[in-house]
Amino acid sequence: MIGVFDSGIGGLSILQALRAELPQQDFVYIADSGHAPYGERDDAHVIARSRALTQHLRAAHRIEALVIACNTATAAAIHLLRAEHPDLPIVGVEPALKPALALSRTRRIGVMATRGTLSSAKFGALLGTLAGQAEFVCQPCDGLADAIEHSAGAGDEITDATDLIAHCARHTRAMGAFGVNSGEIDTLVLGCTHYPFVQAPLRELLGPRVRFVATGEPVARQTRRLLQAARKLAPGQSAADTGRILLRTTGKPAALQAAARRWLQLQATAELLFI
Ligand code: DGL
Repeated sequence: MIGVFDSGIGGLSILQALRAELPQQDFVYIADSGHAPYGERDDAHVIARSRALTQHLRAAHRIEALVIACNTATAAAIHLLRAEHPDLPIVGVEPALKPALALSRTRRIGVMATRGTLSSAKFGALLGTLAGQAEFVCQPCDGLADAIEHSAGAGDEITDATDLIAHCARHTRAMGAFGVNSGEIDTLVLGCTHYPFVQAPLRELLGPRVRFVATGEPVARQTRRLLQAARKLAPGQSAADTGRILLRTTGKPAALQAAARRWLQLQATAELLFI
């Protein structure tokens, strides 16, 4: 069983890639929606929540590996969790600056992430390693993850797409011109796991030629490598076997179920957690 957590439903974008890479594994996903958003809260809150969720995943599900499917929690807490759980393989996510650099022709790269991620020492260090190779236009997207969280509703439709479009428009406008000509941003890093779920409005706003870079697939590959190295890959009887997916939330179970159904075509019942 692999544990996965995020501040809310955003980490489902990582779970989607994990399922594709490791279809025979069992996963337990926690959306900490009752304590979201993380991105505009202080580190102490994010660290306390990350610790509580990790302890719960270990005690209740005996997880063999942990994926922190949240850029903000990775930046604030992964070093602490690794020190506190040395026997547990832990994978985190960070904005995909290096893959974006490999794709960009104009060398002007947009980075959408939470305020917490962008102001973290971890992100500063990552940016520092790439200094001089491109211009990174970093936009703290206040309110966007929260709007995505609330758009989930309980039904199959997004409840307020207008609000989401307005958030996307405000943040992309603040970053300047997008396009493939010199001086324009031709590559956009989706540096928060909630943002792949607004790719459609972003595509509408920015046109067909701007590339979007998310982190699901590299994180899933890294998880496979870690499990292999730790000899913890589930054997799986045949290639057709599929693992179980357990959904847990500290917010509204109906909202997590609806998001999993809409985005992952996953029919699973979400249970409410009090932690
Ligand atoms: N999904 C989270 C991330 O990747 C954060 C969203 C939030 O709670 O602010 O950063």
